[in-house]
Amino acid sequence: MSSDPYGLESISIQWLRAKPGQKWARYPGDVSAWVADMDFPPPPVVLTALRNTTGSGDFGYPDWRRSAGGSPAEQAFIARCARRYGWQIGLGELMELNDVVQGIQIVLHTSTAPGDRIVVHTPIYPPFLSSVEDSGREVVRVPAQPSTASPSGWTFDHGALDAELTARPATALLLCHPHNPTGHVFSEVELRELAALAERHDLLIISDEIHADLTYAPLQHQPMALFAPERTVSIHAASKAFNLAGLRYAVAHFGSADALRRVKALPGHLWGAPNLHGVAATTAAWNDGDEWLAAVLVHLDRQRQLLADLLREAFPTIGYHMPAATYLAWLDCRALGWGDDPSRVFAERGVRLSEGPNFGVEGRGFTRLNFATSSTILRDIVTRMAG
Ligand SMILES: Cc1ncc(COP(=O)(O)O)c(C=O)c1O
Repeated sequence: MSSDPYGLESISIQWLRAKPGQKWARYPGDVSAWVADMDFPPPPVVLTALRNTTGSGDFGYPDWRRSAGGSPAEQAFIARCARRYGWQIGLGELMELNDVVQGIQIVLHTSTAPGDRIVVHTPIYPPFLSSVEDSGREVVRVPAQPSTASPSGWTFDHGALDAELTARPATALLLCHPHNPTGHVFSEVELRELAALAERHDLLIISDEIHADLTYAPLQHQPMALFAPERTVSIHAASKAFNLAGLRYAVAHFGSADALRRVKALPGHLWGAPNLHGVAATTAAWNDGDEWLAAVLVHLDRQRQLLADLLREAFPTIGYHMPAATYLAWLDCRALGWGDDPSRVFAERGVRLSEGPNFGVEGRGFTRLNFATSSTILRDIVTRMAG
């Protein structure tokens, strides 16, 4: 058997440049390491599932009655959570979505009110900030601090958060677990700490776990819902770990009966419904994609280490700690003296990275690099970054 059965190392720049998706089409001629899509071909089990759906020739309303167990993706999610986490979920607690940010916004709108304060670990995936601020809520920041004791290189001061919430209450914690952009995996101790904080300050926890399957061994993802079962809404998708973002499918689990009641009180069609291909792809990924995922994780583990070697050589002053999860590297470029947005200089050199300040004030002087590509292209990225 080939040592690279899924072609993770055999992608070429020409093939990537011919792809229509935004990652490579937006900046023709440049090398792209910005948006969180992987460069790899899709999992073969997903391609087969999509071909089967297309081949059936039946694009009418699917028969996904809840009385018959819900959609195949919901069934796959329930089985996967029991298998991986020992987390027992009832179908009635699930709501299918088109994407994860939709779920975040629905829960913010239904379970919090304008003027409410929402806790967020910053820097953060930019739609967290816009979802809170654009709906008239206020972000309570928990800034990441460097830590040599933490597997991600980052930690968060929950003692200070406790004091802050005692002085000025908040309504919800919008958790990114694992955390984008730092790659931090909240440990069991931290999850218990957050659950206790939520209990003490009566917070609803909205936990975005889209990067869960991208946790590097020996760490293991643990769902927030296991620690605060009645206070948590968890949102999952196969889109990051299996590279399916354009297929638009996510699922929310409501441990909080109150949050579920509020969502159910609104007309069901307001949120739309998932489509056949999103469900088929997600089902195949969750039921049959583990072998592909394991190969991708081995490759990404090498990539995060290769990036450390390449940066040490080309940019000894850039601060980089290997992420404990995700294929995203959060690079501290402040010592370069290139101002708030170092990605601008890299863009002039033909490499597209994500702009640090978009992740909040804590992102000033930082940039985010997506290393989900081949080792050859990662070398090319760093070579170009160096000008
Ligand atoms: C933490 C996090 N949540 C949500 C998303 C986007 O998910 P969706 O496209 O399903 O809204 C991303 C994309 O990178 C992400 O990193």
